[in-house]
Amino acid sequence: MEYKTSNRRRLMGLVVVTLLAVPIFAGFGTADAHAQSKELNLYSARHYPSDNELYAKFTSQTGIKINQIQAGDEAILERLKSEGKASPADVILLVDAARLWKAESEGLFQPLKSPALEKALPKQMRANDLWFGFTTRARLVVYDKSRVKPEQIQTYADLAAPTMKGMVCARSGSHPYMLSLLASIVEHDGEPRAEAWARGVVANLARSPRGGDTDQIKGVMSGECGVALANSYYLVRMLKSSNPEERAAAEKLGVAWPNQKTTGVHMNVSGGGMARYAPNPDNARRFLEFLASAQAQAHLANANNEWPAALNVSVDNPALNRLGKFKPDTVSIAAVGRNQVNAAKIIDRVGWK
Ligand code: FE2
Repeated sequence: MEYKTSNRRRLMGLVVVTLLAVPIFAGFGTADAHAQSKELNLYSARHYPSDNELYAKFTSQTGIKINQIQAGDEAILERLKSEGKASPADVILLVDAARLWKAESEGLFQPLKSPALEKALPKQMRANDLWFGFTTRARLVVYDKSRVKPEQIQTYADLAAPTMKGMVCARSGSHPYMLSLLASIVEHDGEPRAEAWARGVVANLARSPRGGDTDQIKGVMSGECGVALANSYYLVRMLKSSNPEERAAAEKLGVAWPNQKTTGVHMNVSGGGMARYAPNPDNARRFLEFLASAQAQAHLANANNEWPAALNVSVDNPALNRLGKFKPDTVSIAAVGRNQVNAAKIIDRVGWK
C-alpha cells in the first residue's frame, strides 16, 4: 500500500516503533525469556492510525500488550530474514498476496490450525493455514466515458484487444498488484493465454508504466489514458477527497467491474499469519482470531475503504457502496501466491517494464 502516514504515536498500552528509528526496542527480543508473556510482537506493513485503536481494544479485552514495528512490506521481509530464529516477531501483517506468498516461500510463517479462523474466513482467504486474508480490495478498471464505452471493457481480456491501442495505463508489471492479477489469470486461463494477454496490454499502453495506481487514475482524468487499472480503495479515496476538484473529477470517471459474466473481478488482500519463531504463539493465535472477528473486520476494512474478508460481515461505507454490487473472483489467495513466479517470468518475457 503506498499510503503512508507519519502518525506514529503511543496509544494506551500500544508502543509503535519504526524500523529505522530504533535498532532494537528495549524488551523486544528479550521477551522470549518470559515464555508466553502478556505481550505480542507485531510486524505490520499496515499504516493506519485507526488500526492502533483496534489494537488497543485487543489489549483491553485480553490484557496482551502489543509491541508494534511498522515498516514497508519489503523492509519487514528483510528484517525477518536477517533476524532468523532470533526474531521476536509473533505476527506478520503484509499487503497483497504476492508479498504474503513471498513470506511463505521464505519460510517466515508457521502453520496455524484454528477452528475460529476456519469458521470466520472463507476457504479462499486461508492459504494452507499459513497466512490469511483479512481485508479485500478489487482491481478494477477506470475509464474515460468520452472515449470508451462500457461494452468495450467487460473483461480484463478487453484491455488487450486491438480497439484499446494507445489507451491503456498501468503501473509497472513487476509490482505486486500487477503480478497478482496476472497470477490469477494464469490460474484461470493457463500460462500461454496469460502471456498473450500481458503482451496485448503492453502493446496497448498509452505511455510507459510509471507511478502508482493513483497516477493511473489521474492519467484518465487528464485525458492521457482512456482506461486504467487500479485498486478500488484508491478510487474511493478520491471519491472521498477533501479537495472538491479531485472529488468532482473522480465522480466523472467510468468504473468497470471486469469479468462479471465469467470469473469475477480480481480480489486481493491485506493479511498475515503467525511468525515462524513466534515467542508468544498463544497470543499470536488470539490476535489473529481477533482480527477475523466481526468488530475487527469492520474496523480493518473501513481504515482503507476495503471490504471485510470474513463471511457475514458488512461495512457501511457510502463511498464504497456507491461503486455498487459486483461479482468477486473467488480464486484462492494461495493459488495467486503459487503463480507468482510464472507471472513474473511472463512480465519479463513481454517486456512490461
Ligand atoms: Fe496500495
